[in-house]
Amino acid sequence: MNPLPKHIAIIMDGNGRWAQNLNLPRIDGHKKGIDAVEEITMAARDLGVCYLTLYAFSDENWDRPAEEVVALMDLLVKFLKLKKQKLINNGIRFQTIGDNDRLPKYVQEAIAEEEEATRQCDKMTLIVALSYGARTEICRAVEKIIKQGLKEISPEIFSSFLDTYGIPDPDLLIRTSGELRVSNFLLWQIAYSEFYFLDMLWPDFGKSDLMKAIEDYKKRERRFGKTGEQL
Ligand code: IPE
Ligand code: IPE
Ligand code: MG
Repeated sequence: MNPLPKHIAIIMDGNGRWAQNLNLPRIDGHKKGIDAVEEITMAARDLGVCYLTLYAFSDENWDRPAEEVVALMDLLVKFLKLKKQKLINNGIRFQTIGDNDRLPKYVQEAIAEEEEATRQCDKMTLIVALSYGARTEICRAVEKIIKQGLKEISPEIFSSFLDTYGIPDPDLLIRTSGELRVSNFLLWQIAYSEFYFLDMLWPDFGKSDLMKAIEDYKKRERRFGKTGEQL
């Protein structure tokens, strides 16, 4: 049996379809999705997970209708402001990965404030991938490497230039909504992650579903290229 995953990453997909199924506007799905974010964050923390990374907004999501983009930004900022004290009380450190520069100023400020307020928290780190795409993350890393004039690169050195510097690679990657793809999420970091896909839409995903995913993960044999006999 594997121990509890240290780092769980989740592609929170299906908010729009959840709303459409109920004849509601897509935004209502995102609102409900935020409730699931809170529940899963608390559940992961209580279960003893050290890092939880949530894919909230991709590079490609910038191409959605402007009103949906604005609504998503507003929802995030509202969540940060409303839940700041709860994060602190529960020892949850907040951090983002992604291209911060593309975000509106008020979002950048809310993020900086939340990161600062939770800096000392040490029960779990909540990492929100916002304006995040693995390909642009890798390109930004290469730009930094060129600027520093490095001539030799190893996987360890390269990793240290990614947004996820200092964070161990995800042990378990979960995606809701039935899509079987990674949509430009953590391409480098998931080289040896265990994948768990389920049909449920993100707003319906709760603590018991997270626990099921973890139980499934625990039973898997992670070989990292070795034979089963070598383990
Ligand atoms: C995931 O739900 C949330 C974001 C991508 C922001 P979607 O909005 O992608 O929902 P579907 O996939 O259209 O149902
Ligand atoms: C992936 O969901 C991004 C997030 C969950 C933030 P999408 O709904 O954008 O992915 P695709 O376009 O269906 O692959
Ligand atoms: Mg989607």
